[in-house]
Amino acid sequence: MSFGPMPIANGFLAPQDIPLDTYRFELATASCKRCRTFQLIDQPPPDKMFHANYAFFSQTSRVMQDHFENFALDIAQRLLARRDDPFVVELGSNDGIMLRHIAKRGVRHLGVEPSANVAAAARNNGVNTTSVFFDAESAANIREQYGPADVIAAANVMCHIGSIRDVAAGIALLLRDDGVLIFEDPYLGEVIAKTSYDQIYDEHVFLFSLESVRAIFGPHGLSVIDVAPQTTHGGSMRYTLGKTEHHEVSSTVTELEVAESRQGLGDDQTYDRFRQSCEASKAALNRLLGELRGAGKRIAGYGATSKSTTVLNYCGIGPELIEFISDTTPIKQGKVTPGTHISVKPPSCFSEPYPDFAVLFAWNHAAEIIAKEKAFLESGGRFITFVPEVGMIQA
Ligand code: TMP
Repeated sequence: MSFGPMPIANGFLAPQDIPLDTYRFELATASCKRCRTFQLIDQPPPDKMFHANYAFFSQTSRVMQDHFENFALDIAQRLLARRDDPFVVELGSNDGIMLRHIAKRGVRHLGVEPSANVAAAARNNGVNTTSVFFDAESAANIREQYGPADVIAAANVMCHIGSIRDVAAGIALLLRDDGVLIFEDPYLGEVIAKTSYDQIYDEHVFLFSLESVRAIFGPHGLSVIDVAPQTTHGGSMRYTLGKTEHHEVSSTVTELEVAESRQGLGDDQTYDRFRQSCEASKAALNRLLGELRGAGKRIAGYGATSKSTTVLNYCGIGPELIEFISDTTPIKQGKVTPGTHISVKPPSCFSEPYPDFAVLFAWNHAAEIIAKEKAFLESGGRFITFVPEVGMIQA
């Protein structure tokens, strides 16, 4: 299905820097009939998305910080305790949100992070980081310099990589024979179940399922040996893979296989229904915002997420409906949303005075935000949600 011409999701710009011809690409998806990998048909070149002004910093949320501390703990307890001088590599290590907990334990580690500004932030956090794109060639260089990896981890990264087969080859090359690859990404089954079409944007070239992960990594001798659902990013899956002959497969894998078959992730009709649900969601959100604005209500946005770029551009929502978006990320503040030019303001502006309604673009952080914004809700303010369907949250 197509979501129309789309700008770069994290392309927040100052009003004076907006070019006359903003770069756009056709945001369209397809599900491969052979391996059922749900993917973008076209993806912008990586250097348009990941560069020195990349606007996404992982450490903006308390819940995500806890999540990555637990991720590191899991790696340390499950795997590293059993090994001598282990070596952990993280792909797309961002600002070191996970690896710093590995570094703190004195474990040999390397973050691979192509965006120079977040890589610099990681180094400031004491995380050994190299700023390159991971592929078979850089994997060989890393192995030569550091030796094989006991653990290769990645969170919200694998789904960003168009050249995934090259990355899979690099992982097979870098991983010790009994080592494991652990990665997590937004889960296709959750996106379909919740109509969370906003997970579809330039950086998410793939939305994985067990079936597609097997299809991608299997040819490189890597089998899925464990799966664990995660609540992060609106519903993710953590996959553990290892070289086929060195590991036993957990029962969680067969359970997920059955669940995917029940959900119809391998059926064309599922994707037709998804398209219809996206169109219905767009119509309902536009109707609600139009009615509220028509009644003179003030509407703001909460969280200038990458996901919001898809929602705003697909639904055609701009400053005429949403006055501003509040966001905690300093690099986004004072800028405007990609393609739709809604001002992004610091959270201090949210309460000066409170708007009547706030569209919860950061819906994946709903619990944290609702707890934090009690005063907004108690003053009569309401959050507008659109996942799993268009509705409201009030005190
Ligand atoms: P994410 O959903 O991709 O993690 O992005 C979350 C965005 O929402 C990020 O730009 C920070 C912003 N945000 C807020 O503005 N306030 C909050 O309380 C939280 C949790 C996130």
